[in-house]
Amino acid sequence: MTSPIEHRGHDDRHETLLILDFGSQYTQLIARRVRENRVYSEVHPPDLSADAIRRMAPKGIVLSGGPDSVYDDDAPQVDPAVLELGVPVLGICYGMHLLAHHLGGEVKPADRREYGRAEIAIDGDCRLFAGLAAHETVWMSHGDHIETPPPGFAAVASTSNAPVVAMEDTARGLYAIQFHPEVSHTVSGGAILRNFLHEVCGFAGDWLMASFLDEAVADIRARVGDRRIVCALSGGVDSSVMSALVERAVGDQLTAIFVDTGLLRQGEARQVETSLRDGLGLPIVTVDASERFLAGLDGVDDPERKRRIIGGLFIEVFEEQAREIGADATFLAQGTLYPDVIESTSVKGPSAVIKSHHNVGGLPERLGFELVEPLRFLFKDEVRQLGRELGIPEDLIRRHPFPGPGLAVRILGPVSGERVRILQQADAIFIDELRESGRYDQVSQAGVVLLPVKTVGVMGDQRTYEQAVALRAVETEDFMTADWSRLPSELLARVSNRIVNEVQGVNRVVFDITSKPPGTIEWE
Ligand code: XMP
Repeated sequence: MTSPIEHRGHDDRHETLLILDFGSQYTQLIARRVRENRVYSEVHPPDLSADAIRRMAPKGIVLSGGPDSVYDDDAPQVDPAVLELGVPVLGICYGMHLLAHHLGGEVKPADRREYGRAEIAIDGDCRLFAGLAAHETVWMSHGDHIETPPPGFAAVASTSNAPVVAMEDTARGLYAIQFHPEVSHTVSGGAILRNFLHEVCGFAGDWLMASFLDEAVADIRARVGDRRIVCALSGGVDSSVMSALVERAVGDQLTAIFVDTGLLRQGEARQVETSLRDGLGLPIVTVDASERFLAGLDGVDDPERKRRIIGGLFIEVFEEQAREIGADATFLAQGTLYPDVIESTSVKGPSAVIKSHHNVGGLPERLGFELVEPLRFLFKDEVRQLGRELGIPEDLIRRHPFPGPGLAVRILGPVSGERVRILQQADAIFIDELRESGRYDQVSQAGVVLLPVKTVGVMGDQRTYEQAVALRAVETEDFMTADWSRLPSELLARVSNRIVNEVQGVNRVVFDITSKPPGTIEWE
């Protein structure tokens, strides 16, 4: 993957907050919270040199938390010259320890980790805590702590366990806190970040999606010129927004290849085509590859094999079309989002793969395309905002996320045309009733799972022996953890009745009441 630094196109136009990532699980959250203040933020590896940072001209720098101790042999370091750039710095947790370590303070190794809520006492007035109460509840997650601040720093908050949980050197613009302001359990965390951004760094807070759109369009035009560009449309929100953005920039120099796997939700392929082609005028070539996908999946019941087959076929079908239509194309546009970019440059090792998520990785190299990734600095909620700016209809933008391999991973056991039909119908009823009840937007993701069992039932005077389905609905912010939705029993009853009555082949409906962890959102 190309380094984000080479691709960044905004540094000279936006006021930027730079985040150096020391491996905290909360780093992305810092970036998102900063952007909620309409301040553009970027996450970079921790070893970025002071020279590179100077060229990027950030208006503020955050040193993130991280799992290490500054005393570990291979603990990630910050270039000490970064602290002398004259740019305000906020060190969070491990970032605080680094500041103290480099500037002559005393960092005390931990006897035990402190984890969870804590109450801090704020001493006197300091810029970071302007407007806060004398005592505040915060979220701690650390081992080491600061015993003595470095020369020039004043300690500005403490807990009963630790004498220095916040310190500042206003003359040099260096600030540090032991706790995590980005986590919602830190009650005044938003105010602390706002104070740093606006009062300390002086950000105007005028970063808007409309201006991102204008700049992204200008960037794509400059890069593509009068050459041709292709992209794969999967039906999901990201690839739809990405295609609409590229079309806005270069019009019908773009060909969007829509690979219809036949595994989308009921009517979804048509909905995407109608909104994007008829509504927005996108140059879309649709390939109905459903028979090919069904043939490829015939008799396969292992979830990971299903994913591999679908990923492989998607690339195969796309390649054939791209060769045919886009023979003269130079560029391939992809809907990579910022979390993937951050993940790939993080100091953390790759986290254990629970499910291999497929995307069209590897395509550009194989086809000799140059890669364009216009969404690579955006988070999911920002992609939705951008979609609105581009005029994509709200119902398309607001759809729940949907797995790349589609309904294949919601059909337990082998996939067949008949089983896809059953699941599409049952799923459409569930989603329809969720919308009717006004609960669709409250739920983060919902769908039906077709189980590989038949059960006995009775309809009229007849004994039946048919399929069982499970309803799955979860609420989550980040999809890493999720709680099952407490849907009202009347709604569940309506959905169950309708599915059993309207979907031929189903005689039983159950509701999944497992959170993640220990369950995952999808059943496969
Ligand atoms: P799990 O089931 O891992 O799902 O809790 C978390 C989120 O990821 C989606 N998901 C996938 N997305 N390809 C994708 O693009 C996949 O293979 C895949 N498997 C799960 C899932 O729908 C949920 O939003």
